[in-house]
Amino acid sequence: MSTSPESTAAAAHPAPERIAQHRRYLMCRPEHFTVSYTINPWMEPQNPTDTATALAQWQTLYDTYVALGHDVELIDPVPGLPDMVYTANGGFVIDGTALGVRFRVEERRGEERPFMDWFARHGLEVVEPVEIQEGEGDFLLVGDVILAGTGFRSVGDSHREVAEVFGREVVSLRLIDPRFYHLDTAISVLDPVEGPGGVEKANIAYLPTAFDDESRRILAERYPDAILVSDADGAVFGLNSASDGRNVFVSPRATGFQAQLRERGYNPVLVDLSELLLGGGGIKCCTLELRGKS
Ligand code: ARG
Repeated sequence: MSTSPESTAAAAHPAPERIAQHRRYLMCRPEHFTVSYTINPWMEPQNPTDTATALAQWQTLYDTYVALGHDVELIDPVPGLPDMVYTANGGFVIDGTALGVRFRVEERRGEERPFMDWFARHGLEVVEPVEIQEGEGDFLLVGDVILAGTGFRSVGDSHREVAEVFGREVVSLRLIDPRFYHLDTAISVLDPVEGPGGVEKANIAYLPTAFDDESRRILAERYPDAILVSDADGAVFGLNSASDGRNVFVSPRATGFQAQLRERGYNPVLVDLSELLLGGGGIKCCTLELRGKS
């Protein structure tokens, strides 16, 4: 009997058992989805978009979340706001408090009020933002720490503001590649509670080339077990994934990342949002986590 190098390595470091945790998400049906302006390098208004395809792909994501036991709330889409489907940019919600957003770009400012109104109507305590920031697009909760992106959309002062609002440590990271203009296009939070422990934590995955040197140094120091994702998988928005701690909702095109996830004990669940990528968004962009009071 022969043992392959892979199985030897796996036996030496067995992947920890991952635990799925219940999630509550906010999504927005892409009824008015189109690409009519350019605010990131993915958007090319001259290329046709198909709203029916966007709706069908989005519905698959919705159905997948529900089938795995998660709650999905819906906000009504507003005509003339084609980017509202990317609800990650609608706010940042922890412990029943929702910090609203202030978009950098004029084209999306009409979304700010509808999201804050939705939060208020659903029993969340709403904090009106002062500084420019784009919600969970640039703020990610990992354990007790908030990772905060800047460079393209959210401004550095918003990092101080989010620290004050939530009373948590904030780690600022600088994005340098315009294709990865929001933090959630370059980092994926796989397990915010750091899993059941063990040698291999791997609770985040990231695309090293999306960050400046100092940010890469910070990430390597804080997350030595992180999954480092290839440029090829990054370029198909592989990192724009959602996770419940076990199931990782990921683009079918990010094949290398899927293999890395399996090695670490995660279960990749493939959902294709190719039509929504025409607007520069993927799975995570279409998903805002609603974290209630713990
Ligand atoms: N067209 C949108 C924009 O450029 C896409 C937003 C993607 N959202 C995200 N969380 N990365 O603002």
